[in-house]
Amino acid sequence: MYRVGKEEVKAVERIIKSKQYFRMADGKSGCFQECDKFEKEWSKFTGSKHSLLMSGGGTAGLICALAGLEIGPGDEVIVPAYTFMASASAVLCVGAIPVIAEVDDSLMLDPVDVEKKISKRTKAIMPVHLLGLTCDMGKLMALANKYKLFVVEDACQASGVTYNGIKVGKIGHAGAYSFNYFKTITCGEGGAVVTDSKKVFERALVYHDSGANFRPFAKKLSIPVFLGMQFRASEIMGAMLRVQLKRLPGILKDLRKIKNRISGELASAQNIYFVRSNDGQGEAGAGLHFQFENEKIARKFASAPGVAGTLPIDSGKHVYSNWGPILEHRIGVTGAANPYFFAANKGLNMKYSKTMCPKTLDILRRSVRVGVNPEWKEKDIENKIRVIRKAGESL
Ligand SMILES: Cc1ncc(COP(=O)(O)O)c(C=O)c1O
Repeated sequence: MYRVGKEEVKAVERIIKSKQYFRMADGKSGCFQECDKFEKEWSKFTGSKHSLLMSGGGTAGLICALAGLEIGPGDEVIVPAYTFMASASAVLCVGAIPVIAEVDDSLMLDPVDVEKKISKRTKAIMPVHLLGLTCDMGKLMALANKYKLFVVEDACQASGVTYNGIKVGKIGHAGAYSFNYFKTITCGEGGAVVTDSKKVFERALVYHDSGANFRPFAKKLSIPVFLGMQFRASEIMGAMLRVQLKRLPGILKDLRKIKNRISGELASAQNIYFVRSNDGQGEAGAGLHFQFENEKIARKFASAPGVAGTLPIDSGKHVYSNWGPILEHRIGVTGAANPYFFAANKGLNMKYSKTMCPKTLDILRRSVRVGVNPEWKEKDIENKIRVIRKAGESL
């Protein structure tokens, strides 16, 4: 969360006073249809044909994207070893098996390891644009085309981020975003899915609404209604997000300006090496990312006065070796309902270990992230440049 103010309060107040909180109400009955309007605005913003807002967060967005693509038991989905565990758990939620692949020196999914992990059972690749950075979508889309796979983008940490000028989330066959408290724009919790495919959208729409059968939209669908989950968004969420979306370009502009200024000034600073970027101008600019020769040097740099750096290896749930329930096949259902025991999943690549992605562990141990704040003033920026330069010189 970066910026929330009076406008959000006014928008939410208006909905609370209207007593129209249910998004599926008939527009003519006085409901403001905030979710519908947000979805239209999000489609326009991302350049997608269809958007669906939901509760249940980016996790629900990923689940609906996967369900929308009819991914399920018998399918493998390749996910990166460095991401929030929800990317992989969403795959299990639809009954498929996550296959964990290395990240490369850009901290993003490694196309070389992805190709090695593609099997006859692979159905999709899930690039995750973590930290507002971008995956190498050129190489990953080429692999998907070569092997006829779906691409489900996890853009939960990357609202508004672009790759080659295109919004991430919209590049693959479906993409998901998170609007939880920690994200660039927020309504507390919530997520969205985007796709250009009418069929994928319709399946996601039905899957996200346990009452789909009873909705007016059911009559207009080109697919039969089936039973899914309950991830419907409320009008309060829609109202807040419409205001937040108006703020998003400004937040990104400020983040990028500050990040570019700092990285530009430090381009030739002693011992300062930036993480290779797949699209330096498209990334959110929410952080500066450095890479060093070894962990000892990375830790010395991160803890130098004023740097306030963190090592990705310390980010707990974002590192696959800490995904206990997945590594140990502990899913919240018993016996045969656990996807790891599904007959359809027999023989799939589900053998995990804490050391199975050594390249990722090495890169995460040698990298440092320094957060950027869009509210930084000139003196804060100059100070950051100074302390980072000094930390580099002291290594
Ligand atoms: C990369 C990534 N994927 C998925 C999620 C899940 O999003 P949510 O918490 O909104 O369900 C998150 C949230 O932190 C995330 O960072």
